[in-house]
Amino acid sequence: MPSATCQVCGGAVEEFLDLGRQPLSDNFPTARDIPHEFFYRLAVGMCGTCTMVQLMEQVPRERMFHYDYPYYSSGSSVMRAHFEGTARRFLDTELTGPDPFMVEIGSNDGVLLKTIHQANVRHVGFEPCGKVAETAASRGVRVLEEFFDADSAAAVRKSDGPADVIFAANTLCHIPYISSILEGVDALLAENGVFVFEDPYLGDIVTRTSFDQIYDEHFFLFTARAVATMAARFDLELVDVERLPVHGGEVRYTLARAGARKPTDAVAALIAEEHARRLADMQTLQRFAANTVRVRDDLVAVLRRLRAEGHEIVGYGATAKSATVTNFCGIGPDLVSYVCDTTPAKQGRFTPGTHIPVQPAESFGDPFPDFALLFAWNHADEIMAKEQEFRRAGGRWIRYVPDVHII
Ligand code: SAM
Ligand code: TMP
Ligand code: ZN
Repeated sequence: MPSATCQVCGGAVEEFLDLGRQPLSDNFPTARDIPHEFFYRLAVGMCGTCTMVQLMEQVPRERMFHYDYPYYSSGSSVMRAHFEGTARRFLDTELTGPDPFMVEIGSNDGVLLKTIHQANVRHVGFEPCGKVAETAASRGVRVLEEFFDADSAAAVRKSDGPADVIFAANTLCHIPYISSILEGVDALLAENGVFVFEDPYLGDIVTRTSFDQIYDEHFFLFTARAVATMAARFDLELVDVERLPVHGGEVRYTLARAGARKPTDAVAALIAEEHARRLADMQTLQRFAANTVRVRDDLVAVLRRLRAEGHEIVGYGATAKSATVTNFCGIGPDLVSYVCDTTPAKQGRFTPGTHIPVQPAESFGDPFPDFALLFAWNHADEIMAKEQEFRRAGGRWIRYVPDVHII
């Protein structure tokens, strides 16, 4: 069995699921780019020492996060509301001092920091991807087009002083060089400041068999226990956790300097729940791996049957997650005619590795297909609300989380 070294503690990582040869999940090639696509082996394991679940192989960060990175956080109305609410909560709680300062890691198109900017609160976002960073800047957000790490964090500490809040959404789990991040947090955080991050939760991934949460950018799959252990290595402490419904189930972790704040009861409760569920047992993770293979086989069988019956199937949402599904299951244009997506940067291109054409959202009703495979299942409520006409026209949704079903 292949092994890797834990990026948190240096322990041995034992593999429990191999999702095979995979492309970059957010690299949508043109026809000309297809022969040059980059592939790596996507497999995931758990550290036997600190229990952190992580990928067995790293993709170099510049391959994933570059000028043309096509993911725009503001593409979902639910996520816009989520981040506006998050910003308002910080403004009402942590950012009430005389001259507060907030730092965001992975500020993308400014979906959160624009509310902080509008409140005239000092802030800076670290965002290495030029195009999304330019969108944020056009909204008035102050952005550094740089990766956050120990060095860039120390530079901001020097120029701007300590941060009351350091925040990262759907970004910390993307970063294998996490020691450098936590050293940066240590350099930049005010004495009573908080480092808050939210990412997909391993507990939800196992419950829902949402194996598509595993892809190049999602290097770590966090649990409260593993985060608490990691924090302690850097003189930080996990002082609060909050379950979030967004993106298929996340946890928001709040870290403070060790001893600075009293941990809430929610921390011990979530760690106890993880213990009761045996979330850090290889047997639990191997069961998850077996469920993943079952979902793959069921999904491929359903798609093949529907196509054999002459039905048209299209994909809905060219998500990064869907790269794992289509490549692991071998779903190409023979099964799914096209994938519709609202993101201009993805349209007119092909899905990574499997080369299904990506078309604008408007193609979906022109005319409606017989079946739609819901790749953007994490945005289901928002999508069902706006696509009611599809069901009325006789269309059916194919879903594969937590198992394969047609509705
Ligand atoms: N925070 C947004 C959200 O939740 O929608 C964006 C999430 S997006 C999936 C991840 C972002 O993290 C990308 O915009 C990427 O460029 C950025 N990123 C990756 N590594 C980073 C680093 N070391 N420092 C700052 N940003 C980083
Ligand atoms: P995400 O799951 O990483 O947030 O990606 C969602 C993708 O789905 C993104 O490419 C935008 C697309 N999308 C649609 O096409 N229609 C929608 O209604 C929503 C919410 C997202
Ligand atoms: Zn470890």
